[in-house]
Amino acid sequence: MTRQRRTRYGVPVAPGALPLLGHTPRLLYGSLPWLLRCRDGDTVQRVKVGPRPAYLVCRPDLVHALLVSHDFDKGGPLLDRGRDLLGDGLGTATDANHRRQRRLLQPAFTTARINAYATVMGEEAEALAQSWQPGREIDLLADLTTTTMRVLIRALLPTIDPRQADQLTSHIRVLIAGVFIRAAIPHPWLHQLPTPGNRRFDRARTAARAAADQVVAAAHKSPCSGGVLTTLLVPADDAGIPAFTDEELRDQVITLLIAGAETLAATVAWLFHLLARHPHVEARLHAELHDTLAGATATAADLPALPYTRDVLLEVLRLYPPAPLLTRVSTTDVVLGGHHFPAGTDFFFSAYQLQHGPDFPDAERFDPGRWSAPLTAAARHAYIPFSSGRRKCLGDAFALAEGVILISAIASRRRLRPVPDSRVRPHVRLALAPAGLRMIAEPLRR
Ligand code: HEM
Repeated sequence: MTRQRRTRYGVPVAPGALPLLGHTPRLLYGSLPWLLRCRDGDTVQRVKVGPRPAYLVCRPDLVHALLVSHDFDKGGPLLDRGRDLLGDGLGTATDANHRRQRRLLQPAFTTARINAYATVMGEEAEALAQSWQPGREIDLLADLTTTTMRVLIRALLPTIDPRQADQLTSHIRVLIAGVFIRAAIPHPWLHQLPTPGNRRFDRARTAARAAADQVVAAAHKSPCSGGVLTTLLVPADDAGIPAFTDEELRDQVITLLIAGAETLAATVAWLFHLLARHPHVEARLHAELHDTLAGATATAADLPALPYTRDVLLEVLRLYPPAPLLTRVSTTDVVLGGHHFPAGTDFFFSAYQLQHGPDFPDAERFDPGRWSAPLTAAARHAYIPFSSGRRKCLGDAFALAEGVILISAIASRRRLRPVPDSRVRPHVRLALAPAGLRMIAEPLRR
């Protein structure tokens, strides 16, 4: 067993710090094996990522405290840079601003509203599955990202002009590809250098804002379209909460597209990667879909009748949570894991680390069957693909509904097979995605 070096506050330093760079490369490239290594050490560990003190919290009950207590907020340099890059939407707002934003956005994500968006989800999922020529290689992750983005844009504003939707999609894709590295590197001047990559990112950011402004203007013209945006044009009725300004609406459009497209696309891509390697799971999934839907795509009404499909999705989210590492900052002096920390301390926590931990027996095994029984109380704290507490994902129910609908549309029409010799590895961009995933869409033979 290796002994961990302790800081003068008695908190051990996490293993794997590099000379000068500390743990920055590990956090930047989402080093998953490193996160698992840290789990074997103390419950709270110092990580070296620049001048501010930062700590990795490695025990589910402590992470739960971090997420539900008002002594912690979203914050820190990573989030500040994210806000500079993407605007002040729900995902990057700090507590003071967050409560109002969340109350205004919540009515657009009720079960009834999500059921209404299910038609669009089904149409886009079918169009995707049908676009794949049998026997051809497909770029599954890219195709799924386009589909999830199209669904979100149509849910935002059903009457949107398709050209506007395509423009917005292409700009957001550039932002998704570049935002994580720009937020994570603690030297913002690097991204102000006039390199081709920086210029492209800046152009996309300006264009995405302009396109989102146009979408907001279009929502004003069609206030009865029934989309998310038109719900947001009115103030929250009960407490006289002022409605969003147009600028805030623009930031919410960008936030929702960034938060909701690649996260779900990566999850569904992992799912088909795993299905191809676990024929018994694939066969059971196909059987449920066939028995319930007889080749059709799931509608909102079918979702409760597809428990195994949902369990497969939950299990993929356990093994490959799209947001594997997140942060919080203490807003006051706190005690965590027996250690004292001053206000303004940064904390990291990892869904990947907790979900691969001892609360899930045989944790590395892909086993959707584990979801047939209720989780233990400890495992409930450890299972946080959508986070928890007041910053829990706003789109969790939306994502689960869309995930099942996408799976049903694809698995009822095509069987996805890996290209021989392709090598898939986890890669953290904005979401934890399967890099190198190459698949062939074969016709489905029963
Ligand atoms: C599999 C799909 C998804 C996963 C795993 C996921 C995960 C997450 C996580 C972990 C957070 C919390 C971050 C934190 O605690 O710091 C979050 C926040 C958020 N997500 Fe998702 N998400 C998914 C899909 C979606 C979708 C489809 C939407 C929109 C329709 C969405 C919208 C948001 C928003 C707006 C927030 C900020 C919530 C707040 O701060 O109050 N997400 N998501």
